Amino acid sequence: MDEPFIERLERLEKEAIQALSGVSDVGALEGWRVRFLGKSGLLTEELKRIGTLSAAERPRAGQLVNTLKKALGEAHGARLGVLVADQQKAQLSAEAVDVTLPGRGLGVGSLHPLTAALRRIEDIFAALGFSQASGPEVEDEFHNFEALNIPAHHPARAMHDTFYLLDTHLLRTHTSTVQIRFMENNTPPFRIIAPGRVYRADAPDPTHSPIFHQVEGLVVGEGIHMGHLKSTLHTFLEGFFERPLNLRLRPSYFPFTEPSAEVDVSCLLCQGVGCRVCKGTGYVEVLGCGLVHPAVLTRVGIDAERFSGFAFGMGVERLLMLRDGVPDLRLFYENDLRFLRSLR
Ligand code: PHE
Repeated sequence: MDEPFIERLERLEKEAIQALSGVSDVGALEGWRVRFLGKSGLLTEELKRIGTLSAAERPRAGQLVNTLKKALGEAHGARLGVLVADQQKAQLSAEAVDVTLPGRGLGVGSLHPLTAALRRIEDIFAALGFSQASGPEVEDEFHNFEALNIPAHHPARAMHDTFYLLDTHLLRTHTSTVQIRFMENNTPPFRIIAPGRVYRADAPDPTHSPIFHQVEGLVVGEGIHMGHLKSTLHTFLEGFFERPLNLRLRPSYFPFTEPSAEVDVSCLLCQGVGCRVCKGTGYVEVLGCGLVHPAVLTRVGIDAERFSGFAFGMGVERLLMLRDGVPDLRLFYENDLRFLRSLR
């Protein structure tokens, strides 16, 4: 037989086996297959050459090419098996979960700053002998206005940007509603606080929110006077802010108290020297208060000749902003954990 033919086949076999040993991924293996075993690959070329051989040589040559083809096909299969197994192993180890890594931990929850502040306020008043009362957030005009000496068309109604529901119901604009509800059902003497949500149709800005929290206070008994009011608030405010404070009662006006006052405390930032927070005055306003108007007592059936009382109402967000230097009231409602964690 034509020696060059056999030699070429042997060279081809060596070349193929050598090339195969350098194949390291499935893509390269496919390239190898196309080159040697493909339709227009090197072995096909040899098959075509057989036609140029003598009739006597052809069967043997055909056999040799077929044997080589089979051998290379098997070598290809074996290599493919190895490469696929390697690939799987690499993938599995890349995706492996390291069960020895430390866990992420669950984190310990804590109270929202407003909840914590409300509890603190409740605790301080509890220590002063106050019990707690509450009332509905959906109210009627009687409890939100009329019973508090704010008749229809009274200019004070315009100061409350009220959310009305239907004709006669509304979202309470202050917790003073609970004064009325409590006095309707209880006889003096008593001292209560009423913490809760209130609503006003204000556009949100750094000092306004359509929903916020107030704590109402009401004390009714015989001989209750402004001195009781002032000392109660002084004790509470020093307890809440945890420092000695000067108190200043400025005459003010609320329809349901007489006299009425606005309470200022010495500025928490500059301690009364004068700064940006107190606008140089040395004082910041913290709440409204006064002696319960006799007409309010009378309307709920309490003898205003025998009993007198004081009441106060404060905004919880405002107290917290002053205590903790919070610049924007809306932060309390955005649930940004970075802010919430920054307060105690
Ligand atoms: N209800 C008043 C307000 O919301 C505050 C207040 C309460 C004033 C009790 C006096 C007495 O502004």
